[in-house]
Amino acid sequence: MAKPLQVEVYNPNGKYRVVSTKPMPGTRWINLLIEQDCRLEICTQKKTILSVEDIISLIGDKCDGVIGQLTEDWGEKLFSALSRAGGKAFSNMAVGYNNVDVNAANKYGVAVGNTPGVLTETTAELAASLSLSAARRIVEADEFMRAGLYDGWLPHLFVGNLLKGQTVGVIGAGRIGSAYARMMVEGFKMNLIYYDLYQATRLEKFVTAYGQFLKANGEQPVTWKRASTMEEVLREADVISLHPVLDKTTYHLVNKERLAMMKKEAILINCSRGPVIDEVALVEHLKATPMFRVGLDVFEDEPYMKPGLAEMKNAIVVPHIASASKWTREGMATLAALNVLGKIKGYPIWSDPNRVEPFLNENAPPPAACPSIVNSKALGLPVSKL
Ligand code: DGY
Repeated sequence: MAKPLQVEVYNPNGKYRVVSTKPMPGTRWINLLIEQDCRLEICTQKKTILSVEDIISLIGDKCDGVIGQLTEDWGEKLFSALSRAGGKAFSNMAVGYNNVDVNAANKYGVAVGNTPGVLTETTAELAASLSLSAARRIVEADEFMRAGLYDGWLPHLFVGNLLKGQTVGVIGAGRIGSAYARMMVEGFKMNLIYYDLYQATRLEKFVTAYGQFLKANGEQPVTWKRASTMEEVLREADVISLHPVLDKTTYHLVNKERLAMMKKEAILINCSRGPVIDEVALVEHLKATPMFRVGLDVFEDEPYMKPGLAEMKNAIVVPHIASASKWTREGMATLAALNVLGKIKGYPIWSDPNRVEPFLNENAPPPAACPSIVNSKALGLPVSKL
């Protein structure tokens, strides 16, 4: 028999047994659970990605709820194990839940939580950081410096792209895409072109107002355009950031043909999900087009990169850290814990999952509601009146 995984136990005599498959940042989420009579077991095993079998062993015979991670495969096997153990609550510590088979959760009556609202600005800031780093070749220049290769200023040394007056393209202008667009427009006076099935009215109004402000100050106004196709964005933009959800329609959204449509000196940023880009085609494109640059936070086969990507000087790669600010990660932990706690306690579902401030205020008890349950309608869960 396999050795049990290491766990740390809080409030051993608590009435409800809650498992967290990973230690998470902050302590508020722990306190909120134990104050509400939960026995909390946090898996501390030194293993980055837990297998389905590992998690089944953590669930055991009696488990009221689980807080899990986006690296885990939450499907039929895990939801049936949780249901057998008497559990009806699961939350991903992530806004994305493409690792969760929601139909399987519905079948076993398990509520699936996620954590929107708290990572919008943090993720947009990383996309903006990658855009700047790619435009000004910061990673290449840093490596050059550390390698002791700098022997004096040269007119051609690490010449990159000026962003001011160029066009930023956003594919998927939801919360994160819009926050990123605002940063690039306001911070660097870029013009905006975006593609989304829905009109981003607030974003359009913001760019119009900012353009008027610049004009009134004697500066070149910024502009916006809603593209009627994604291809229009790819052809026209100098910097393109991808913000769609991953589903069947967005798998390999950026493929060989679409890469070929982009400007030779364009910059492509991806902080959404890896499979949105055909990574093999991307490596070929990076090889063939040395002035094309890419900034990637996510990869097609995480944690791996497709062969050749790591060697490309025109690629900046970071390990899925877009939400990794202290405030955001602590907030994600809190929201995930409150999703599970709320379902265990029979609380209703918060009416606006993006308005999460009341749950994050450390000076007041959180509302008696589940912050965000993605299958609440399918399970017929009541909505909070708060
Ligand atoms: C999410 O929450 O989906 C992010 O990818 C985590 O950084």
